[in-house]
Formats: sequence, structure tokens, C-alpha cells
Amino acid sequence: MKHSLNPVPAQVFRISLAAPDDFEGWRDAARHMIRASIAADRIVWESPSDQTVDLFAQGERNLPSAPADTLQPRASRDFLQLAQSVMLHSDIERFSLMYRTLCRLQSRPRLMEDKADPDVRRMEDLARQVRRDIHKMRAFVRFRAVDESGSEHYVAWFEPEHHILRANAGFFVRRFTTMRWSILTPRGTLHWDGDRLQEGPPATRADAPSGDPVEALWRSYYASIFNPARLKVGAMLKEMPRKYWKNLPEAALIPELIAGAQAREAQMVKAGGQDFGDRPQSLNAIGEGILACRRCDIGCNGTRAVMGEGPQSAALMIVGEQPGDVEEEQGRPFVGPAGQLLRAHLESAGIADRRAYVTNAVKHFKFTPQGKRRLHQNPSAREIDVCRWWLDGERALVRPRIVLALGASAARSLLGKTVSVQKARGVPHVLDDGSELWITTHPSYLLRLQDQGRAEEETKFASGLRKVSVRLSEMSQ
Ligand code: URA
Repeated sequence: MKHSLNPVPAQVFRISLAAPDDFEGWRDAARHMIRASIAADRIVWESPSDQTVDLFAQGERNLPSAPADTLQPRASRDFLQLAQSVMLHSDIERFSLMYRTLCRLQSRPRLMEDKADPDVRRMEDLARQVRRDIHKMRAFVRFRAVDESGSEHYVAWFEPEHHILRANAGFFVRRFTTMRWSILTPRGTLHWDGDRLQEGPPATRADAPSGDPVEALWRSYYASIFNPARLKVGAMLKEMPRKYWKNLPEAALIPELIAGAQAREAQMVKAGGQDFGDRPQSLNAIGEGILACRRCDIGCNGTRAVMGEGPQSAALMIVGEQPGDVEEEQGRPFVGPAGQLLRAHLESAGIADRRAYVTNAVKHFKFTPQGKRRLHQNPSAREIDVCRWWLDGERALVRPRIVLALGASAARSLLGKTVSVQKARGVPHVLDDGSELWITTHPSYLLRLQDQGRAEEETKFASGLRKVSVRLSEMSQ
């Protein structure tokens, strides 16, 4: 007699995650299912953004129990790291892919090293796409200022391809710590009030404001960082795909900038230096430009840029290193402890500080947070060199006869190379525009010294300022 065998369908389980990026939820469920020996094709994964089609609607929501004596599944660090990125992808298949790979890892602990394996390759591919989306969000979020009952709030609209919003939150909090902002996306929203981060429901394009003065800042920033010598149109379009253009105020400038690039490059080669665009024509323009400047990491750290201060006709320009904590808060150079010491010495040397133009080599405050405090960090040579463009702009407008550099960072900014302050101090140097450069130590250095050491250094500092004072009087005769 012939039997017809009707296979009994294997039970399918349905696992609902709390959120599309709920990695912990996925990991706990995956561990449980491996211990219960459930194969990947018997699990349907879903999240609020990853709903499955009806075919699996019957899946069992009560998970099978796992025998008490089974061991916890093993997962290599490589796998866990990769899986955390893969989790953020928008492909609904990611959960099963990760689960299948985790199951296979149990018998092949070195599976992740097999770069030809299709599952490993697929995971790496998804993780790469996620990283790229994270990078795009960091590069292309643009805030618009909105006035909310008299206090400023910045709102940005962005359309991520993957579930990267929460993973990127820390970056925006660190970069824009002092601002109140919201980032609206179709996948959810983030709101930072300067103190606390909150998440909100998805938004639409219509919820976001459009057009305001912040755009002007972005435009001038973009025009100023545009480097014609580096222009590779294909690479640029890859980095800044057209789909992002509609949200980028500066994108309106792209065709014009590309058109003018060749002429600018020729100009730049002639000038033999870094060219970030046309030089600002006024100190006000520099003040606005530095606020929007993001050419280096310090510019991106969310602090306020501090512009130089003093008469444009000043014969003396004093250049410090970078604003400190107090300067950043007040938005003015040399108003903290180092500034007080400097002013006392200027007065003793007979230099009226209000007749000097006082500025810094680097316009933003570089610090490391320590609890509630912000500890000063020296700018790197690269950061000084990048910021030099602004200082050169100030020098071109103020045209001082004497420049006094306080410390090694200022000296580097003015000379374009690192020098030893101890060796270079006490004698005049000639700058490219014929003005005299005098170099001395930074007053913050004096503040860190004690007793005899401090007294000796202060004496040398005072003597350096007296020489500058004498030169100023000679030049004014
Ligand atoms: N130190 C500096 O170099 N500049 C300031 O503005 C304040 C402290």
C-alpha cells in the first residue's frame, strides 16, 4: 500500500522588537531561540517600522522554552560589533541574516574571518551602508533658527535612509551642546534643550521651517571652504549626492563655484598658499565667517567663535592662542585670568591696551570636558594653520606696524612654522607685509608657574613688553 506523506509544517515564531534599532531586544531573543534550537527560517522578526506581510501572520508569539541545561550561545566581538551596525539598516531581512550568522557561529567560531562567506559579506555590506548614512547625516544636517517666545531654537530636517537617528544623537549633542535644537526626520525626532535629550515621533517636511539667516552663514562658510585645487566634480557629487541638495542652502552655490574654480585655482597657485575663497572685506565679515567656520574639529565642537577686538587703526596687534573658558562664554578675547595679567603688564609697560587690537591664532575654544569644567587643550599645528586664514584676514585689514605673539601657537600662526619661544623672544622678526613681529611667552604660562620661577618669567615678560612699547614710540615719531 502506498502512503502519501503530508509533512507537518514546522511552527513559525514571531518576535516583535520594541524599536527598529532595538539591538538588546534582538540579542536577548536570538540567544533564547538558539538555546531552543529554532532555525532561522522558523522565526519572523518585526519592529514598529518593519512589519511583515500576511503570509506569516499566524506566527506564534509565545516563544518556545529553552532547556535549562543549554549553554548561552557564543558570539565573537567582531560579530557583535558588526551586528550593532547592521541592526540600524532598513532592510527587514537584517534580523534573520544576523540570526542565521549567529547560529552558524556556534559551530564555526571563526566564521567572521571568512570574508568570502555570503552571510559575512552581506553583513559587512549593510554595515557599510549604515556607516555611510551616519556620515551623511553628520555632514548634511543644516539648522534653521526659529524664534520661540524670544529664545532661539534651531531646527533641522533630514531624511536618513536607515535607523541611525538614535545612534547619531551623541554626536549632535557634543557638537552643538550650547544650542537648543531639534532634528526632525520621517523616522523620529530628537530634541536637545542644552541639558537633556528627548526623542519624539516621526515628523514631516512641513513641520520643519525653511529659509532664515543661518542659511546665509552656511552659504558663506561653504563658499569659503571651497577649495578649487581639490575640485573633483565626480567625487564631490558622490560625497554630496544630489538628493541632499534640496536641504542644503549652500548647494545653490555649487554650479557657480564649479564655474569659477579654474580661475580661482590659477590665482591660488600664484599666491602660493591656502585659499579658502575671497578674503573677507571687513572685520565684521570675518566675525560672521568665523561663527560659521567648521574647517577643523575645534570649529565643529559647538563652542562660540571669538573675534578679535580693538581699533582697526591700531599700530599694535596682540595675538594669543585661542579663547579660554571665560572668553568663550563672554564672546570676547582676553577677558579671563590670562587677560587680566596681560592687561596689568601692558599698563606697566606703558601700552594702553585699548589702543591695541587683541585677537587669537585660533578662534574657537578647544577643551576636554571634565565634569562641569572645560579643560583647555592646545590646538594642533594643523588647526593653527587652518585658522591662520582668518588671522591673515585681520592683519590685512588692521595693518598693524607691530604684532606681538603670545606663546608658541601664536608664533606658529604668524611665521607658518613652529619656533622655540625662548629662542625667538626679545628680538624683532619681519613678517611678510613688512610689519615687525615680537614673540614672548603666553600669560597663561606665567599663571601656571609658582614662586621664584614665576617671578623670573614675569620679569622677562615685562622686559619684552617694554621693548615693544619703545618700538611703538619710535615708530610713531
Ligand atoms: N588665552 C588666549 O590665548 N586668548 C584668550 O583670548 C584668552 C586666553
